[in-house]
Amino acid sequence: MKLVVANWKCNPATRQEAERLLNTVKRGAGRFKKAEVVFCPPFVWLSLFHECLYGAQDCYWENRGAFTGAVSPLMLKNMGCQYVILGHSERREYFNETDETVNLKIKAALKNSLKPILCVGEKERETTDAEGRTVNDMGTVVKEQLEKGLAGVSRSKIKEIVIAYEPVWAIGSGNPCLPDDALRASLFIRKTLVKIYGPGVADKVRVLYGGSVNGKNIADYVKEDRIDGVLVGGASLNASDFIKIIEKSNL
Ligand code: PGA
Repeated sequence: MKLVVANWKCNPATRQEAERLLNTVKRGAGRFKKAEVVFCPPFVWLSLFHECLYGAQDCYWENRGAFTGAVSPLMLKNMGCQYVILGHSERREYFNETDETVNLKIKAALKNSLKPILCVGEKERETTDAEGRTVNDMGTVVKEQLEKGLAGVSRSKIKEIVIAYEPVWAIGSGNPCLPDDALRASLFIRKTLVKIYGPGVADKVRVLYGGSVNGKNIADYVKEDRIDGVLVGGASLNASDFIKIIEKSNL
């Protein structure tokens, strides 16, 4: 079964809108038998999701203490979250998230039995220069984000982790990555994990694609065996588009 993660980002602004969107998706998607659907709304709306799989868009690395404004992985676990998105490019860009803080958060999430969805991806589209050299190499960026983000995470925990390949240039741009390139990134991620952890891990981790996925292009990604699902931003806020994504993820 494919994994479909809805990243609502900083939306919507009211509880009523959040409820309406959730209820419309629930009614339309036949109780989500077609895919494993995980909603990641803002913290303040999480309590609406008790009948679904849900997660947060970030968390802190300490469980409690004098850390004003922080939400801890223990709190998320205690309120029923199963997942937490970590290292999203918007967190990296606007909130000074680094591979080192992402790593602390991944380890804290795992300790609290939350499944981290680790986001990785290059900022600019990969191209070739006049001399035939690769510029903005996906592999270099993704390898470093994986090595640093997963530092100290033991092999036995790797099956709990989801990796989302999200090329930054494709996020919210209406310009998704070619399915073949998403597949290439998924295979590269698995190969990198084998280099870090040794043989036998490539099938244990789920690898998603994210970046301008919608009801029209979803099939191009989920048709690939080695793409285990999608992380959806903008289209997850549109009930009919998100229902299509769920329906078409059933292969
Ligand atoms: P998008 O966002 O689907 O709006 O491109 C994806 C994401 O940021 O996770």
